[in-house]
Amino acid sequence: MGLLLKNGEIVTATERYVADVYVAGETIARIGQNLDVPAGTEVIDCTGKFVFPGFIDPHVHIYLPFMGTFARDTYRTASVAALTGGTTTLIEMCCPSRGEDALEGYKLWKSKAEGQSACDYAFHMAVSRFDEGTEAQLREIVADGTTSFKIFLSYKNFFGVTDDEMYQTLKLAHDLGVIVTAHCENAELVGRLQQKLLSEGKTGPEWHEPSRPEVVEMEGTTRFCTFLETTGARGYVVHLSCVPALKAASNAKKRGVKVSVESVLPHFLLDKTMAERPGVQGMKRVMSPPLRQKHNLQALWEALAAGEVDTVGTDHCPFTTEQKLMGKDAFTAIPNGIPGVEERVPLIYTYGVSRGSLSLNRFVDALSTRPAKLFGLYPKKGTIALGSDADLVVYDPAYRGTVSAKTHKTNTDYSGFEGFEVDGRPSLVTVRGEVQVRDGEFVGTIGRGQFLRRKPELPHAD
Ligand code: URP
Ligand code: ZN
Ligand code: ZN
Repeated sequence: MGLLLKNGEIVTATERYVADVYVAGETIARIGQNLDVPAGTEVIDCTGKFVFPGFIDPHVHIYLPFMGTFARDTYRTASVAALTGGTTTLIEMCCPSRGEDALEGYKLWKSKAEGQSACDYAFHMAVSRFDEGTEAQLREIVADGTTSFKIFLSYKNFFGVTDDEMYQTLKLAHDLGVIVTAHCENAELVGRLQQKLLSEGKTGPEWHEPSRPEVVEMEGTTRFCTFLETTGARGYVVHLSCVPALKAASNAKKRGVKVSVESVLPHFLLDKTMAERPGVQGMKRVMSPPLRQKHNLQALWEALAAGEVDTVGTDHCPFTTEQKLMGKDAFTAIPNGIPGVEERVPLIYTYGVSRGSLSLNRFVDALSTRPAKLFGLYPKKGTIALGSDADLVVYDPAYRGTVSAKTHKTNTDYSGFEGFEVDGRPSLVTVRGEVQVRDGEFVGTIGRGQFLRRKPELPHAD
């Protein structure tokens, strides 16, 4: 049975128009006015609603052993939360630590998703060590369709790489046609500042930001861009949070460095005072890079509108209140991360488009089309076009709601965005033609989600 989305306003990265979309099987078969469709087709009236391409979250953590504990979601919970919020593709950070075998880690991460996800998914493969066996393993992982890497300039001795390892990773990535995503903070400086603050008795969550000041992120971003320039590799700065780091990346772009920038939901909406709240309320908003002073939020919105910030991800990383309390005696022991996979689309729509000056086209571009293009998923994903996967989000702009842990699907007992109003919501969501969300509720199939095999971007012109 086909599906007809009738009379909605179709929004892509470049267009807005009212039309019908006819889905046959898993893909978009026809787009036009007053389409005649076969008997038995399910017709959804989309009058007064937007029809967006399925949104892609380019930065999530689902299975994550980290800071002495594990992030709380499974693919079952995370994919249902994602779909409820209009995200139809997840790109998860596959993060074996420095002491672990990369290929074994890759297989483990994949096994956590297989048969468990309601939406489609892919991985960025973390390189947390580069030794004589690494190249062969990475070649095997790329051949399996995982064509993006991840490096951490922070988290020394756990995920973090040395400059020499960064160089080798970027050089190999360039040769393989793979893009490298990077967490850009200077690990040595963070370590020293943490020690200094703790030795002064500064143990609360309000000291997390001073232990990772803007300049530390600016240095990491600058260094990553310098290494990209030297190796010719393509790079992507994840969760960029502040003006100095933005300037470093923008300057690199201007001189021709192949770097793109992601900022994540918390950095657009939450400022550092949220992490300065006493006790566990502050701990719940501890992430890295940290929440920043307020002026950075406005700068990120402007950079997003201008395309200087390319994409919006979440860095979804869910821990419970109990887990956050592991850091009650020292901010350095608070598991870093804030969940957001469910709220990204409605909150960026609300505070960017509905109540801000972000255009609908740029909204779709940053949350769907550019992630698809950067990570080798376009035009299968990231647009509404003939032959593209029928990952579609019917968005009802008239809906009004409030974010609350009482009603969210994410597997945590709190929301970093508790009490935020939302304008609109995804009322119907499809994954490759199958309705997974109806009237805002998950009605789909766990296990429908597929692993997305991607191709490297070769040959390189340079
Ligand atoms: O605080 C964060 N960002 N937690 C997740 C791990 C990472 O650095 O992305
Ligand atoms: Zn990170
Ligand atoms: Zn992350």
